[in-house]
Amino acid sequence: MAYLEITNACVHFPVRNTWGTTGEVVRAVDGVSLSVEKGRILGLVGESGCGKSTLTRAIMQLQPLTAGCITLNGENLTALSVAQVRRRRLEFQMVFQDPYASLNPRFSIFSTLLEALTRRAPLPRSEREAAVAELMQRVGLSPEHMYKYPHEFSGGQRQRIAIARAIAPRPALLLADEPVSALDVSIQSQILNLLCALTREMNLTMIFISHDLSVVHYMADDIAVMRRGKIVEYGTADDVFHRPQAEYTQTLLAAIPKL
Ligand SMILES: Nc1ncnc2c1ncn2[C@@H]1O[C@H](COP(=O)(O)OP(=O)(O)OP(=O)(O)O)[C@@H](O)[C@H]1O
Ligand SMILES: [Mg+2]
Repeated sequence: MAYLEITNACVHFPVRNTWGTTGEVVRAVDGVSLSVEKGRILGLVGESGCGKSTLTRAIMQLQPLTAGCITLNGENLTALSVAQVRRRRLEFQMVFQDPYASLNPRFSIFSTLLEALTRRAPLPRSEREAAVAELMQRVGLSPEHMYKYPHEFSGGQRQRIAIARAIAPRPALLLADEPVSALDVSIQSQILNLLCALTREMNLTMIFISHDLSVVHYMADDIAVMRRGKIVEYGTADDVFHRPQAEYTQTLLAAIPKL
């Protein structure tokens, strides 16, 4: 069994109107089966609204499944209690699209990262600054800025802080939902390279989400193409990018601007 195994996962939302539910459903995730081996990067690509974020939230156990099951390391996550999920969540962390919205503006970087570093176990006062400094260096930030606040950083630096916070509890699985979509093109590749390097250094397994097939090809070992809640193509990154089988993948490829 693979490290992460998603079997026939469905998330259906009831459609509501002013008078309650209409009996219809939005099939945001509709029978998705995927497996990811330890240490690999799976790229999940598809147009807006195809269900990428909903699937990610389901893996994080932030969104219950309507049907199906998700196992991590052989353990059925969907059968865990709330308290068990809270403890497991240290093992799977997320990086979001908008680093400004995901960081608390009232906390200095030191406070934010210290909180993340001490989620597993407390740190003695004398070791805190050094631990935060080391973490900042790991993601390419200068430790001299540790007492600054999120608004004092650029978008790219803020995303580095969000990545530092995600890796602080030493997770095994990292879910990155459009982590570079809100950044300048010139900054995007730096953040992608950082994520790649960390994945290797920490032997992380990663699901990398994007609507941009060329970004996913750059990052991922394997690619799954999603459309309207279903996986329409799955294979190694090179196969999907250079020899796409599904007509929809060919449309996505044709949409990439050529220089
Ligand atoms: N809580 C919810 N209640 C009802 N419908 C929802 C809910 N969350 C998502 N949806 C619907 O499910 C579908 C999939 O949404 P989702 O956010 O997963 O797409 P996405 O692929 O992440 O899109 P994007 O690229 O824009 O982020 C959409 O039609 C969305 O409107
Ligand atoms: Mg989304």
